Amino acid sequence: MSAEDEAARLRRLQAALGKIGYGGDYNPEQWPEDVWSEDLELMREAGVDLITLGVFGWAQVEPEPGRYSFDLFDRIIDRLHSAEVQLSLATMTASPPAWLSASHPEMLPQRADGTRLWHGARQSYCPSSPVYRDHAVRLVEQLAARYGEHPALAVWHVGNEYGVHVAECYCDVSALDFRRWLQERYATVDGLNEAWSTDFWSQRYGSFEQVLPPRSAPTFCNPAQQLDFARFSSDAMLACCRAEIEVLRRVTPRVPVTTNFCGLWKPVDYWAWAPHLDLVSVDSYPDPGDPESHIEAAFTYDLLRSLKGGRPWLLMEQAPSAVNWRTRNVVKAPGEMRQGSWQAVARGADAVMFFQWRQSRGGAEKWHSGMVPHVGADSRGFREVKALGAELAAHPQLAGSRVQADVAIVMDWPNWWALELDSHPSVDVTMREALLAHYTPLFEAGVTCDVVPSTGNLSNYRLVVVPNLYLTTADAARNLSDYVHGGGHLVVSCFSGIVDDCDRVHLGGYLGPLRSVVGARVEEWLPLQEHQSLKVQLEGRLGDGACEATVWSELVIPSTAAVVGAFADGHLAGSAALLHHEFGAGTCWYIGTRLDRAGMRQVIEAALAEAGVAPVLADLPAGVEATARVAEDGTRAVFLLNRRPEPVTVGLPDSTTLTLDPRGVAVHYTHPTPEGL
Ligand code: GLA
Repeated sequence: MSAEDEAARLRRLQAALGKIGYGGDYNPEQWPEDVWSEDLELMREAGVDLITLGVFGWAQVEPEPGRYSFDLFDRIIDRLHSAEVQLSLATMTASPPAWLSASHPEMLPQRADGTRLWHGARQSYCPSSPVYRDHAVRLVEQLAARYGEHPALAVWHVGNEYGVHVAECYCDVSALDFRRWLQERYATVDGLNEAWSTDFWSQRYGSFEQVLPPRSAPTFCNPAQQLDFARFSSDAMLACCRAEIEVLRRVTPRVPVTTNFCGLWKPVDYWAWAPHLDLVSVDSYPDPGDPESHIEAAFTYDLLRSLKGGRPWLLMEQAPSAVNWRTRNVVKAPGEMRQGSWQAVARGADAVMFFQWRQSRGGAEKWHSGMVPHVGADSRGFREVKALGAELAAHPQLAGSRVQADVAIVMDWPNWWALELDSHPSVDVTMREALLAHYTPLFEAGVTCDVVPSTGNLSNYRLVVVPNLYLTTADAARNLSDYVHGGGHLVVSCFSGIVDDCDRVHLGGYLGPLRSVVGARVEEWLPLQEHQSLKVQLEGRLGDGACEATVWSELVIPSTAAVVGAFADGHLAGSAALLHHEFGAGTCWYIGTRLDRAGMRQVIEAALAEAGVAPVLADLPAGVEATARVAEDGTRAVFLLNRRPEPVTVGLPDSTTLTLDPRGVAVHYTHPTPEGL
């Protein structure tokens, strides 16, 4: 795919929308047609101009093998077009119809313990199944031919939340596909034996035919096998997605293609997927019952923006209020949906969409809120939806503008998979917790942060933060070291530089290939008990305070690094916990434990100051989120979101002030000074 074609497809989408898109999943097949008229009227009232259509339409359009029936979709698409609503048209392959698995039960997915997952819910297919892929591709050919030229078509929505229910399949068909994938990776079975360390536990293979997915076994399966199976499973789903994209590119080369990622989602390697898409989209369901869930949402949005080098992305789904799938489904308070929507726009989204337009009457998701609730338009929910539509329409200039960041946080999927393998020193070191522990102080400081892979281009950043890079490849270590050597600032945290890409330990002292940039090695680790904490005494450039540490401690042996914090109790009392290292023209901080929130804040703030990173707004009051988007003409929009229970006054760069209500949102524009003035 040439970058030029991709850019042209994106321009087409931007021109079609001309503003921040607004809408949601629309499932008209669930409703009699007289409801459609009301839908269109309410969409107009709410300012809806972009809807996702047909996500679960397969059984409707192909009621029996090879017999296609598009009448319903023809009618609704024409009506939507007359109502000036654009389509994010689904390829309808997310939920195969009953006839497919009835005639080909081998296409049903299988768990590690051999349980088949039958038809009756959704996503019941094995990603490696040629039966599924052939039928899916055939359907996409039909859809592309029928609707590819339709003027309402704005973007193709491929599949739906790949891997949300079935992220890996352990059946015999998958086993064959896994072996093919392994053969491509290792060429010979000896190569595989070497990579998987199979001389341990008599696991050596004589041929690829003997290799299985990591099915339920007496105890821990080979970790390298598990890691490769995670890689393979992401690739198998990507192959399904790419097979559909291939059809769409061929038949409708001018229409952009996206798929909706599923929040912060372990099974799908977003870095590997993003290059195949014209733009990325995400579904985001922060829990209204968790007062901190907006921090993970912010991280997810920063990640989405970073996947395509800072380009705008689409918030494809969020809940208007409660979902149906948590144990207790908390309702969004008045103003909460609005604030969450603006949070996405503030971090680069060019569309705000929901699941779903009209709350279902029957089926598994009838207790999931809709933009039009069961009670109808005379409701708080719809009034809020309508108000947000009007508000977004009043800021058309935001579409296409970019967020800029001086800081990046490193995140790799293979590291996530490897970090959380079983039989590790501690179950408490997990990726999500590590990411948020390092991201939260940046978020609270009002510093915008991109996300980068460990081998990504770091040259645009003043500070790079590396949470728990357990799996560190030689390329990643070189990239990070070169970055610091050339003047960059790095923060690395514990349990990093431990294994290579086959989960084999870097020998000669932990931190392995990161030893020289960190200026230390680690001799052994002492994971903490669940409720255990240790005191860390700060010193040197961190001052003379103290903070608490949990989860992890380790015996750090500095070589050229300076100690800026030491364990104050436990076995390691007196030994180094925090380091600062001058390396080439830059510096590297090392955190040999998991500091509490205040401790993390202190280290990150010291690193930000050293790197010369400024927040979006100086003197930002606690509890206020601030980000900025800059348009091509230089107009800067600063977004302010108040999460405090009381009003708060914020000072702006032009020395004016602005008062935000509780859950308040404000967008403040500054225009570039015309030249010569
Ligand atoms: C996901 C799916 C939707 C719907 C919502 C409910 O995002 O894509 O079809 O099930 O979850 O929250």
